[in-house]
Amino acid sequence: MSATSKPQAQYLKDYQAPHFSIQHIDLRFELAPLKTVVHSTMTINRVDETGADLVLDGVDLTLISLHVDEQEYSDYTLEDEALIIHNLPANFILKIVNHIDPQTNTSLEGLYLSGGAYCTQCEAEGFRKITYYLDRPDVLASFDVTIIAEQKYTHLLSNGNQIDAGTLDDGRHFVKWQDPFKKPSYLFALVAGDFDVLRDQYTTKSGRNVELALFVDKGNLPKTPHAMTSLKKSMQWDEERFNLEYDLDIYMIVAVDFFNMGAMENKGLNIFNSKCVLANQETATDKDYHTIESIVGHEYFHNWTGNRVTCRDWFQLSLKEGLTVFRDQEFSSDLGSRALNRIDAVKVMRTHQFSEDAGPMAHPIRPEKVIEMNNFYTVTVYDKGAEVIRMMHTILGEEKFQQGMALYFQRHDGQAVTCDDFVAAMSDASEIDLQQFKRWYNQAGTPRLKVDQYFDHVNQTFTLTIEQFAPDNQPNNALLHIPFAIELLDPAGQSVPLTINNQMQDSVLNITEKQHTFVFENVIEPPVAVLLEDFSAPCIVNQTSSTADLLHIMRFARSDFSRWDAQQRLFTNEIKAAISSGNACLSPDIISALNVLITERAGDLALIAELLKLPSYDTIAAEYAVIPVDDIVSVMNAFELHIATDLSDSLIACYKALHDDGTTSAEAVAVRALKQVCLHYLAKTEQQDVNNFIDEAVASSNMTNVLAALSAVVKANHPRCDNLLNEFDAKWRHDVLVMDKWFALQAMKESATCIEDIKQLYDHPSFDFGNPNRVRALVGSFSHFNTTQFHRADGKGYQLLGDLLIKLNDINPQNASRMLTPFMAWKRYDHDRSQAIKAQLQRLASLENLSDDLFEKVEKALVG
Ligand code: TRP
Ligand code: ZN
Repeated sequence: MSATSKPQAQYLKDYQAPHFSIQHIDLRFELAPLKTVVHSTMTINRVDETGADLVLDGVDLTLISLHVDEQEYSDYTLEDEALIIHNLPANFILKIVNHIDPQTNTSLEGLYLSGGAYCTQCEAEGFRKITYYLDRPDVLASFDVTIIAEQKYTHLLSNGNQIDAGTLDDGRHFVKWQDPFKKPSYLFALVAGDFDVLRDQYTTKSGRNVELALFVDKGNLPKTPHAMTSLKKSMQWDEERFNLEYDLDIYMIVAVDFFNMGAMENKGLNIFNSKCVLANQETATDKDYHTIESIVGHEYFHNWTGNRVTCRDWFQLSLKEGLTVFRDQEFSSDLGSRALNRIDAVKVMRTHQFSEDAGPMAHPIRPEKVIEMNNFYTVTVYDKGAEVIRMMHTILGEEKFQQGMALYFQRHDGQAVTCDDFVAAMSDASEIDLQQFKRWYNQAGTPRLKVDQYFDHVNQTFTLTIEQFAPDNQPNNALLHIPFAIELLDPAGQSVPLTINNQMQDSVLNITEKQHTFVFENVIEPPVAVLLEDFSAPCIVNQTSSTADLLHIMRFARSDFSRWDAQQRLFTNEIKAAISSGNACLSPDIISALNVLITERAGDLALIAELLKLPSYDTIAAEYAVIPVDDIVSVMNAFELHIATDLSDSLIACYKALHDDGTTSAEAVAVRALKQVCLHYLAKTEQQDVNNFIDEAVASSNMTNVLAALSAVVKANHPRCDNLLNEFDAKWRHDVLVMDKWFALQAMKESATCIEDIKQLYDHPSFDFGNPNRVRALVGSFSHFNTTQFHRADGKGYQLLGDLLIKLNDINPQNASRMLTPFMAWKRYDHDRSQAIKAQLQRLASLENLSDDLFEKVEKALVG
């Protein structure tokens, strides 16, 4: 990290509108692996009187020629990442020809090859790896794209509608596309390859016919129906809930194996990571099905929230991502179980997002300083961003929220706008003041709430005092507007009506001051308060609820989410108590409550499955300033064994009583989820029946069941583990996506040889350092889920990850940077461990060619 080459940061406060606008761009690609020729013809005009130079972005490009208004033009300066053109007139046509090299592009950004197919990824700043351009989201142009390629690339795709196609004299063919909607460069896409296609159609509610096409590698058609069904459900849901219709005549999705993220919302031509598209019952789990549905929805919903209305600059990323995650969460909740979807979202918040917000990468949902934009596609921008939208929805209510959305589109369709514009539309439409609320956009960290409760027998009142505190790491944060939802339960488990000053009171309390006192009247008996119902705000509540109160909430709260939340609190309290006392014994009340859940099986079985699970390691770790790794692991293992042993008869009876009909219905999914939890516990026992359960599960043609058995034996360190894994390898070696599940299982083995095994697996024929799915399956699973081996006292776990990051720094910096995340919390480990992680970070810092992506995070981790 020499001072001269230090990467430069960009600041939100420095935003300047562009000096030029590009009305139209005509692109022509002649595709060839090592030398693709790009012809770009742009219609440009000045938008101010500054007489500024035109500064085009360009990275890894070879400039061949430059013409202004048909004249060769030489008044320019070519820099490493910019082309600066001087003395331009007010209006002109700029023609540029450049070469690019897709085959050696392993960054998976710009134009690259995935398998044998060409594809692109332009968000956030990948278009500059294709041609010289104003590569920023507030430059909106119409695009015409002509793709020329050899005939073996049977499908040549880009955004919008196909307007021409034919064969050239030299035998190559071409297709021309036109996108009628103006768009920023990050939404450009091009794909060329030989695919199988699933075609379908959808009629919008106003009666327009939309052609749907899903392109996959040859042979994968049997894995496409679920994604197509998900797409049609998304289109219908957006019409019903948000009154938003699709706007082009064709909607295309392409699945590729090499992809850095889940999927990309390019206008009319989404590109997906194949693992977020392909599924059938034999190869994908119920969870995969759910993920696919939600990501297909997410990308579709971007067509309005992201594409029709886009971001002014990348600091506004949450404008489209927070809002679109909120929309996809609502989609999943309307179609499936609202409580389970809420549980999933809150797990992400409390584990990953809270830890990001407490660590060196803490940033507001609208960051103010960025070195590498790819580093800000974070759980904060996405998931906390969605929580901020959800809080507005809670404060406004559905009707006013929808009026706000309508006003937002009425004002801003076709524009590149800011988060302020969004909040203004919400506030203007609802006539609700959101000035204080807007602080959520520029304050990082997780706010804390302290709640005190007091019951007055004489006056029959219940007093809640709620005080807000700035996050420990952001002591100067201003007071926030926090919607705090509650329920009061009487001793019989009934909801107590909320009355203050003789007025019926909504369950959402608006916290805007440092401290509020709410006195609820007509409360006859001491109630149990359900606090932050449904996680109504992304905060940490400090409360001292007794085991009895939590058990009461777990039984009676009207919100299934809050029942689960109480159960998690119960477990967390017990685990923490066991760690401090050194005596790992679960309270008999909890054991018997679990037994009731297993034997009665009242209500949604999928919820019961969640109620039976201990919190994750990360959830417990989040409770500590310095994480007691070994204690957490040993107490959690002891508790699981305790549950498994004490309740084995009930678990076996439950397992046997559940009938899986093998369908994808919600009921069948719930049955499999509950059976999986039972098997997880049972595999830790010596029960005779367990072997039969395992045999039955691995022999089934349903991946949910197969994986349930394999993950149970891996986590239980069961004697059959290695044999079963070897059989799985032999059976599935032809299917890379299924092999990812196998790599993940290998990485989670707690055995002392795990690290050596992983190094061996780098040579497995299915492994590939250039493929982010493989790398995450193997090393990502290891660093996130194999706590004992990753955090080995001898530092070998950290060394494994350090070695990998050095390798990925050259191949794919974006993936390297995501894989680095477990190191960011280094200060929260004991002395030896934190020093060992720090040494790995320093190793990276000393690399000569350290990428901007890694530089930004390493520097924040080490320097702050
Ligand atoms: N906009 C995409 C989404 O959330 C995210 C994405 C896909 C992305 N590929 C990327 C972001 C590459 C950065 C880099 O739907
Ligand atoms: Zn998105």
